[in-house]
Amino acid sequence: MCGIVGYIGSSNARNIIIEGLEKLEYRGYDSAGITLYNLSSNLFNIYKDIGRVSTLSKTTHNILSNIGIGHTRWATHGKVNAVNAHPHQSSSGRYIIVHNGVIENFKQLKNQYLKNHTFISETDTEVIAHLIDSFSTIMDVEKSIVSTLNLLQGSYALLIIDNKDPNTIYAAKNKPPLIIGKDEEGVTITSDILALAGYAKTYHVLADKTFVVSQKDSVKLYDYDLNEIQVQFEEFNFDIKSSEKGIFEHFMLKEIHEQPTVIRRIMKGYIHDSSININQSLLNDLKQSSRIYILAAGTSMHAGIVGKKIIEDLIKKPVEVHIASEFAYNTPLIDPNAFFILISQSGETADLRTCLTKLKKQDYKTLTITNVITSTLARESLYALEIFAGPEIAVASTKAYVAQIAMLFILAYALSDKAIDIQYELSKTAQAMENFLLSDSHIRDLVVKYINTKHAFYIGRGMDYATSLEAALKLKEISYIHTEGFAAGELKHGTIALIEDKTPVIAIISHESINLNTRSNLEETVSRGAIPIVITLESLKSDGDDIILEDVHPLLTPILTILPAQLIAYYASYELGYDIDKPRNLAKSVTVE
Ligand code: F6R
Repeated sequence: MCGIVGYIGSSNARNIIIEGLEKLEYRGYDSAGITLYNLSSNLFNIYKDIGRVSTLSKTTHNILSNIGIGHTRWATHGKVNAVNAHPHQSSSGRYIIVHNGVIENFKQLKNQYLKNHTFISETDTEVIAHLIDSFSTIMDVEKSIVSTLNLLQGSYALLIIDNKDPNTIYAAKNKPPLIIGKDEEGVTITSDILALAGYAKTYHVLADKTFVVSQKDSVKLYDYDLNEIQVQFEEFNFDIKSSEKGIFEHFMLKEIHEQPTVIRRIMKGYIHDSSININQSLLNDLKQSSRIYILAAGTSMHAGIVGKKIIEDLIKKPVEVHIASEFAYNTPLIDPNAFFILISQSGETADLRTCLTKLKKQDYKTLTITNVITSTLARESLYALEIFAGPEIAVASTKAYVAQIAMLFILAYALSDKAIDIQYELSKTAQAMENFLLSDSHIRDLVVKYINTKHAFYIGRGMDYATSLEAALKLKEISYIHTEGFAAGELKHGTIALIEDKTPVIAIISHESINLNTRSNLEETVSRGAIPIVITLESLKSDGDDIILEDVHPLLTPILTILPAQLIAYYASYELGYDIDKPRNLAKSVTVE
């Protein structure tokens, strides 16, 4: 959450930072700001306001600059207004900073060190600028910054400018990601590798508690005692096209349509001639464990619920799924022989990082399943598996969800002795997805027909219940229609009271064993005025069913049945005129607890 970009070099800093912030807007878009050293006036100027980077782009379009730092905000402390937008300055105006994260002890720091200071914003960030400034009355800049860093508790990715020095950007990080990219023109420092595309030949992902002093042609890294750290920069290979919309009107639609390719890509990554290419010691550790715990949040947690069913079915080992933020502070009794799987598209979710820190202290074995193999969770857990979904830009997750399920299926298959032609089953699923996506126009018609509703429900049993949870999350998060996902049989135990005339109830039915029961539950809602919509498979279809999908392997149906639900969400948001890729109040990478 919050995206930051800094640049120093011989290209125009303004263009690189604005372009980078546009790519990072998925991390937060309450407000945006930038400071640039204006080469005409030889001064640093700050521009910031509520709203999007596009506004900032207009305000700054004619500025020529060699150095600057920018920020796109997801508010944590303080309301969404221009004053609370970043960059923030020290009271003398000397230090200008942008920050992603939360400084937990900012009130104590104010009371202890900054009693006579006047603060103009409500943010925790401003304290950092004031502290550096007050230290710099008695020490040099670098010592002032590390002295401040040593006082901070919490999470931060920081870029700092000293307005007396238009040749240096300082940076530091603890927890949220920060990446440095270099080419012969200059240095870019950013929250996400996406912002480096076009501006880096090599890159380095910073470790926690690293302090950086960066100039146009030199980058020096230090620990917080100012001992220099030597690191290796890696070659930067990034397919720019994967982060562009192409022919699609929105990233979400592009990402929905990419899903068959994602399934094929993950197969290529892990299945070679029907044998599975996964680290043997990971498989051994999983085999030797007596219980598997899956930890995740939101959509990734829904993939975890599907994963539980796949793993329990294929390897007959008990699996528990926990919401990461609950597990972190309300830890249940853990089997001493447990193995933990953390699922995270971004690999940066703070709730999961807290879990991982605790699990590592107790020597539990951990695997992160992620889309970002350079992410913190991937680097800090014992094992990591990449899902190869490619950059997911739309805030609402789609392709990462199906890739997470496919990964769990491949992993469970590798541990099982069941005879499944995995290559055939996954290819068939990818083909069924593709066929469905070729003829999705009836979904839009369905949405148009029922769009004027305040509430909606998805119901299902077993795997379809897991899909109902994810389907409901998709619809509510981007269309703002209040939607619940329910275990079909549970609705009548209370929630059915909410069914009113014309409330859409969408039943997902993908298994013979639950077909009739779910249909009866749907009928119960129809008797109370609901409009029924059925998503089912060819082999289970009945007259009047609305969305029919091809049959696939029973453990892979969730990869297919989520597609119509993703499209229902997309078209609902489209018809209601909302910002589909950037729904209100959300951010893609949730790096605060
Ligand atoms: C919803 C969505 C979120 C994320 C959740 C966890 O569409 O994307 O619910 O799934 O914030 O994020 P990751 O997977 O990055 O840990």
